[in-house]
Amino acid sequence: MAENGKLRLGVNIDHVATVRNARGGAYPDPLRAARIAQEAGADGITAHLREDRRHISDADIDGLMDVLTVPLNFEMAATDEMQKIALRHKPHAVCIVPEKREERTTEGGLEVAREENRLAHFIAPLRDAGSRVSIFIAAEQRQVEAAHRIGAEVIELHTGAYCDAHAEGRTQEAGAELERLREMAAFAHGLGLEVHAGHGLSFDTVAPVAAFPEVQELNIGHFLVGEAIFLGLAPAIQEMRRLMDGARKQH
Ligand code: PXP
Repeated sequence: MAENGKLRLGVNIDHVATVRNARGGAYPDPLRAARIAQEAGADGITAHLREDRRHISDADIDGLMDVLTVPLNFEMAATDEMQKIALRHKPHAVCIVPEKREERTTEGGLEVAREENRLAHFIAPLRDAGSRVSIFIAAEQRQVEAAHRIGAEVIELHTGAYCDAHAEGRTQEAGAELERLREMAAFAHGLGLEVHAGHGLSFDTVAPVAAFPEVQELNIGHFLVGEAIFLGLAPAIQEMRRLMDGARKQH
């Protein structure tokens, strides 16, 4: 495991599809966004096929599998339907996320500890098919331990609570959330898990997380797609990269 190595940036293109779907039709095209992201330095593309297909569609996943030259990180809920799709495509990585139909975004991490048996059986065929399985969890020791026990190779720590506290000016809470993330990144790394992080990260919040030496990948979407309106997608990604690399170098 390349500790202190290059930190990878996975660009999540879901919300390019959100804008497209607001009108129907073909524009803006998530595949074009994926191509631009690759050229701008994304190390991977992340896409979440939700049960209700509110952003990314099945056809988008087909297209991404055809056009990408960087790995696809396929985010999905632990359902039979999604498992079938993942087994058909065999993406480089699969990230298991909780999904509630009524939520606006993935609100919390997966309750691995409560569903250990089911999840262990659920991820086994995905691993056997060659996809690297990641589990999206809150920074809680019992979830990290459970993810390890079910045979996941990777955990992705949910940075949403840290980002929300930061955005709302709850500085002390943001600091405490960051500390929890730091501790759990180190704990998970100690167990031999690869550590990723993401959700809600922006130019303002990325540096402290990028500085954790155990974190090997950040997955960032909504902010980058929003910033693309003002800066363009490639410059937004390049700026994120610059901030990540800068934070990494200082430590
Ligand atoms: N990582 C995971 C597992 C996610 O579910 C999401 C949101 O789909 C992200 C990262 C990216 O979050 P955001 O779009 O807020 O940057």
